[in-house]
Amino acid sequence: VDPDVLLVDFGSPSARAVLRTAQVLLTGWGCPRIDAAVLDGAPALRAVVHAGGSVKGHLSPETFARGIAVSTAAEANAIPVAEFTLAVVLLANKGAFDIARTYRERRGAVDLLAEFPAIGNYGRTVGVVGASRVGRRVIELLRPFDLDVVLTDPYVDAAAARELRVRSVELDELLALSDVVTLHAPALPETHHLLDRRRLALMRDGGVLVNTARGGLVEEDALLDELRAGRLSAVVDVTDPEVPPPHSPWYSLPNVVLTPHLAGSAGREVHRLAEYAIAEIERWARGEPLRHPVRPQDLARMA
Ligand SMILES: NC(=O)c1ccc[n+]([C@@H]2O[C@H](COP(=O)([O-])OP(=O)(O)OC[C@H]3O[C@@H](n4cnc5c(N)ncnc54)[C@H](O)[C@@H]3O)[C@@H](O)[C@H]2O)c1
Repeated sequence: VDPDVLLVDFGSPSARAVLRTAQVLLTGWGCPRIDAAVLDGAPALRAVVHAGGSVKGHLSPETFARGIAVSTAAEANAIPVAEFTLAVVLLANKGAFDIARTYRERRGAVDLLAEFPAIGNYGRTVGVVGASRVGRRVIELLRPFDLDVVLTDPYVDAAAARELRVRSVELDELLALSDVVTLHAPALPETHHLLDRRRLALMRDGGVLVNTARGGLVEEDALLDELRAGRLSAVVDVTDPEVPPPHSPWYSLPNVVLTPHLAGSAGREVHRLAEYAIAEIERWARGEPLRHPVRPQDLARMA
């Protein structure tokens, strides 16, 4: 990579010089917004390839209106989120978080049969909210286990659900059926507080909520009430706001596993994002179709 073509802003004279001739922008997290003024200064631009997930933060509608091809590595970013979800679903069903805490606090024997008679993955129901890129991969990863997987997604009909080999149900039914509910829908106006107080109350006693999607999907005050009452437990990778303030109950509730937006690409996993983006640029340069295009008509339902 030529360091002279690495841009951290679009306004400096050197950035403007690069933009004047650039045909492709490879963007990453924190990319400044590509608005009409930036595009005016980039007359040769034909493609924006994002080595990250959502393109909504940095791409203006103008980018699409000008016919610039857009690609995202969201599919690559979905891989570690799905792996993380698989791991926590299996451990949650096993009671591992709860039992590890009990063992540590008690500093003595735990009678698994007497105290935790319902633990284990065998015959459990997992509810997947959203057959998004992450959601679909989670469904795939859950397949080898003796689990019943149910799905809710307004864009997936019964036939499409059968292809995914899951049963499609309404959200309320999913909440009532599932031992673990895992959220994979995007943050959209219609998914804000998708799990509100009424819906959280539908979850089974002892149920576990896994949120690797976005904090705004859950009415957090209502969830915190359920957690304080000990009726539910949660694995929370995303909150609203993120990061929670220092005195937030998220840090202290014993039945919460809180992680700092860890599920997505981190550490070594960011190399996969770069590989996806570079392979996409190579395809584009050879005149081949993009493998991971973002179509403007899909934006309203995408993360
Ligand atoms: N924790 C992390 O580090 C991390 C990393 C990546 C993604 N995410 C989050 O994971 C979620 C999924 O990301 P993605 O890239 O797979 O999303 P995506 O763009 O693939 O999701 C779009 C799909 O979500 C489904 N959907 C839309 N509205 C829905 C609704 N009301 N109810 C249920 N399903 C609905 C539809 O199938 C739609 O096609 C998003 O919330 C995203 O922000 C988190």
